[in-house]
Amino acid sequence: MMSYVLGAVLITGTAGYAVFRVRRWLDRQAFLLASARFLSGHRKDSRPGRARRAAWRSGSVLAAVALVAGWLASPQVTGWALILCFTVSVMVVTWRAWRLLAGWRHHRVWLRPLHLAAHEVAQIDRRRRPGEWLAVEPDRSRAVLALPSGWPADATDKQRLVAIAAAKLGMESPEASWRLAGPDPQLELSMSQPPPARVALADVREHLDRLKADELLWGLGKRGALVTSSLSGDSPHVGLSMGSGAGKSLTAGFLLAQMLYHGAVGLILDYKMISHQWAAGLPNVAIARRPHEIHAALLWLGGEAERRNEVALAGSDMDGNVHAVVGGRLIVVCEELNATMSKLRAYWRGLRNEDRSLPQRSPALEALDSVNLMGRQVLMNLIYMGQRLSVKAIGGDGDARESIGVVALGRYKPPAWKMLAGDFPMPPASLAPGRIQVVSDRVREAQGVLTSARERRELAVAGTVTPCPRGMPGAVAVADGTAAQIPGPDLGVVSGTVLVAPSLAARVTLSEAVAEGIVSCSLHAVRKAAQRDRDFPVRAGLRGLAGEWDAVALAEWDAGRR
Ligand SMILES: Nc1ncnc2c1ncn2[C@@H]1O[C@H](COP(=O)(O)OP(=O)(O)OP(=O)(O)O)[C@@H](O)[C@H]1O
Ligand SMILES: [Mg+2]
Repeated sequence: MMSYVLGAVLITGTAGYAVFRVRRWLDRQAFLLASARFLSGHRKDSRPGRARRAAWRSGSVLAAVALVAGWLASPQVTGWALILCFTVSVMVVTWRAWRLLAGWRHHRVWLRPLHLAAHEVAQIDRRRRPGEWLAVEPDRSRAVLALPSGWPADATDKQRLVAIAAAKLGMESPEASWRLAGPDPQLELSMSQPPPARVALADVREHLDRLKADELLWGLGKRGALVTSSLSGDSPHVGLSMGSGAGKSLTAGFLLAQMLYHGAVGLILDYKMISHQWAAGLPNVAIARRPHEIHAALLWLGGEAERRNEVALAGSDMDGNVHAVVGGRLIVVCEELNATMSKLRAYWRGLRNEDRSLPQRSPALEALDSVNLMGRQVLMNLIYMGQRLSVKAIGGDGDARESIGVVALGRYKPPAWKMLAGDFPMPPASLAPGRIQVVSDRVREAQGVLTSARERRELAVAGTVTPCPRGMPGAVAVADGTAAQIPGPDLGVVSGTVLVAPSLAARVTLSEAVAEGIVSCSLHAVRKAAQRDRDFPVRAGLRGLAGEWDAVALAEWDAGRR
């Protein structure tokens, strides 16, 4: 046992001493040390690329040694080999010089600036050569950025890297595809083919038949792809926030026409009066134009939402699935909300001045909010439109805006983009009419479909025509009050029809009669006449504290007075 221990101590001691001597000897051999450093690609500034340098240096030394050995063995063969090597080298150097010269501009103008701007975000050593991690096509249609394996890939860094690369390479809204799994993460940017400059109905007509009844077609996007959103899947309500003349009315008109084609009913609130003349007189559309008409239409809408909810409740099962038919899909187009809201508020203020017991907030706005809230389950969808869809523009309810899950922006400015799509970087705004960015859980650029009024009108009645429900203000109906059916696009106008007067138009308060021009005198004068004039029509009823009169009787009294 003792001998084993002694043997182990002896071996360890001898080995340790031998290593120490060799190490000391090596330390004194400056030449050997320098050679080892040189051959292994060492540099004082520890610049990256050591393996490459080591290969070059060791290769050159090996070649020199081989040359001397070869010369000593056979000078003739070595001479010929040298000539061959020289010729090949000249050819390779010439070819590389030509490549370098051709790529020099590319390197100087695109690669190097991108390297300098992006190396920090990409966590690449600044001293590395750009070509080692950047590959950019000569026409800059595609760029690949090879990232280090430990790149953290957080959302902000990703966004910044794409933005820097796009700016430095002059690629307008490139398509970014990431490969982050595995040891070699990379970002590939490719130039996106922009949406077509113009899209006609004929270009998308056959797609309309293939879309589901709750799918909206916005237009054609990059590489001619269809840009759609679903009213039941993505968002029950949509918004159009587009500057003046950007194509709001046309876009909304096309959205409505395609829904009408699929069997929906439309209600258009058009304060500008003539934005949607294409739909005037259609059996499946009602249009409210004046403030009191819009007010009445919204009250009806609120009532309809409640009715549909009652039906849904009566026909729902334990899981909340609705089995009852609540009615056809109802699409409400709210034109120019910025202006409409202030008119509705002013209208309500007028009514409140007559009757202080009325609530402060217009019931029409309350109705709009409740449709916003309950719309999805009872097939009522709102198209909010405005030059800038602020909370005020949609009725003052911040929650209501949250439920607009799909917004199309056109001719936008940075504040509008930040307000409505702040989660996404803003693409450059285009002034081209019909060019929109459809923002949902992503941003898709699209060119809206340019349709003529006739095309929209024909489309609206070319499919399943659902007549407006009975009692809907502003709906076209035949004389007995039932809505007319239109069999096909060639019968675009319903003949022999009358307008079902909205309830407010049949019975009006005195201030409405003055505002509407039913009587041609001031409110003060008509109030006096109501008290003193014996020919003044008898009051037909009360709305709150305000009296109501028959509009026709008032008009007749006014005509007789003149
Ligand atoms: N998808 C489209 N493609 C090409 N041009 C379009 C498109 N949409 C609209 N335009 C053009 O833009 C013009 C304005 O369209 P539209 O009236 O719909 O805009 P708007 O935003 O409603 O304008 P306003 O603010 O005046 O109400 C149209 O007359 C048409 O020439
Ligand atoms: Mg318009």
